[in-house]
Amino acid sequence: MTQPDKLIIFDTTLRDGEQSPGASMTREEKIRIAKALERLRVDVIEAGFPMASPGDFEAVQAVARAVRESTVCGLARALEKDIDRAGEALREAESGRIHTFIATSPIHMERKLRMNPDQVLEQAVWAVKRARQWTDNVEFSAEDAGRSELDFLCRIFEAVIEAGATTVNVPDTVGYAMPHQFGETIRQLMERIPNADRAVFSVHCHNDLGLAVSNSLAAVLNGARQVECTLNGLGERAGNASLEEVVMAVRTRRDVFPCDTDLDTTQIMTCSRLVAGITGFPVQPNKAIVGANAFAHESGIHQDGVLKSRETYEIMRAEDVGWSANRIVLGKHSGRNAFRSRLEDLGVHFESEEDLNSAFARFKDLADKKHEIYDEDLQALVTEASLES
Ligand code: KIV
Ligand code: ZN
Repeated sequence: MTQPDKLIIFDTTLRDGEQSPGASMTREEKIRIAKALERLRVDVIEAGFPMASPGDFEAVQAVARAVRESTVCGLARALEKDIDRAGEALREAESGRIHTFIATSPIHMERKLRMNPDQVLEQAVWAVKRARQWTDNVEFSAEDAGRSELDFLCRIFEAVIEAGATTVNVPDTVGYAMPHQFGETIRQLMERIPNADRAVFSVHCHNDLGLAVSNSLAAVLNGARQVECTLNGLGERAGNASLEEVVMAVRTRRDVFPCDTDLDTTQIMTCSRLVAGITGFPVQPNKAIVGANAFAHESGIHQDGVLKSRETYEIMRAEDVGWSANRIVLGKHSGRNAFRSRLEDLGVHFESEEDLNSAFARFKDLADKKHEIYDEDLQALVTEASLES
């Protein structure tokens, strides 16, 4: 069932991402993001939770109509009305998936569902069979698996695979897992469940302790072949595993990971900017891959290294994730080489070392007063110097 060397990317920006307080999106906005995700070549787009509201139903339906290359997925609790609503919303999808879930941790079963484990298992099996009446692409999630008992996870996953689930998802719903433990959980599940080879094992990690990406990668190293993630790490509370970080980690460290995604990573920046613009959630400057400083170099030593050979301080190419190029930021830590190189790019060539040194001294004075020196500042500085000489 699982292609051992392919990592499936399941993007849930439009569903879990939209659960970030203040990030709700209109139907048109969801379509724009879904089309961008399709160009990025994500495998599965979770477009929403059709039972949540008439607007969400219509958005999932519209995305299902608009997207042809990626599978479009709708979320449903393990309830008849949810599953049928999701099935209805996905009717026109070229490839549709119903994603049904129920909680499996003792705390959720006792205090939220007020059901015992046998009842939960029975409901899960029933839900998967119901979803199979709509589509043969059915995912089952054991909500709060990160705090669930391993024996019960084995029982319920075995039963839902038998009932027809083609993907089984292990969510760390509250971001509680530690990478080594989570990886071990995936390994044990895949080893102990007798029909494990008939389903793709998936993970869905939240970022409450800042470990969502690490936990997802630990799971991949232990056999998971689908990662659920969001652009810019958007999502409920502290968010989900960030798509761009997971994808670039496996792509950059092919020596470590046994699989890779099919994504066109040069589309990452376009997608990230689109999501930030639509949701109004800005990306922090030091965010890996998509932050404004992710490929910027300020210190003189780093700038000198990068100008000689970019691999000295870069482990991936800015262009490969959609930036136009890396960025040498001129500031007070910058060195003479970076200064000269930028001016040469601007068409300014120094006649002598002495001219360069005096312009560089002026630049350092200015850099003490200003965080970043822009091309206009440099041009003004050189013009002033030539007027004075
Ligand atoms: O975090 C979670 O458990 C979820 C499930 C619905 C997969 O979002
Ligand atoms: Zn979630």
